Amino acid sequence: MIPNEVTLIDFPKILDPRGNLSFLQNNAQIPFEIQRVYWIYDVPGGEQRGGHAYRTLQEIIIALSGSFDVVIYDGVKERRISLNRSYYGLYVPKMLWRHMENFSTNSSAFIVADQAYDENDYIRDIKEFQREKIDQ
Ligand code: TYD
Repeated sequence: MIPNEVTLIDFPKILDPRGNLSFLQNNAQIPFEIQRVYWIYDVPGGEQRGGHAYRTLQEIIIALSGSFDVVIYDGVKERRISLNRSYYGLYVPKMLWRHMENFSTNSSAFIVADQAYDENDYIRDIKEFQREKIDQ
């Protein structure tokens, strides 16, 4: 199943008195094969990350610790999703403008992507995003 909507995905949660454990695996808990992971941390108060869209990349954003908001803009309306647990993630398909903000102290964002880093896949200008979205 490849959702084409922004979707929250619950990961398995292995409860344990020693500490809980969650996981994700290619094509099992997530709808694609992982090519890359990266993480964002030590975000100073009030900062934003990730103001751009991807032409073809799909990803899952997880609040591995702390909390932050993911703001998604589809070219028409904006939606804010607060992430604050490490046992679920936000699936974000291609061609959505997204940024992250309201990072709590010591929070970290863990991003799982289906493609290697490719600057040519980024749309970093919002007007260009709106143009490409209309042409879709
Ligand atoms: P970028 O994705 O633009 O971060 P943000 O959208 O949060 O500002 O990445 C910032 C810089 O890091 C950019 O110059 C490219 C580099 N980068 C890599 O080299 N590899 C990666 O996997 C990522 C995500 C970024």
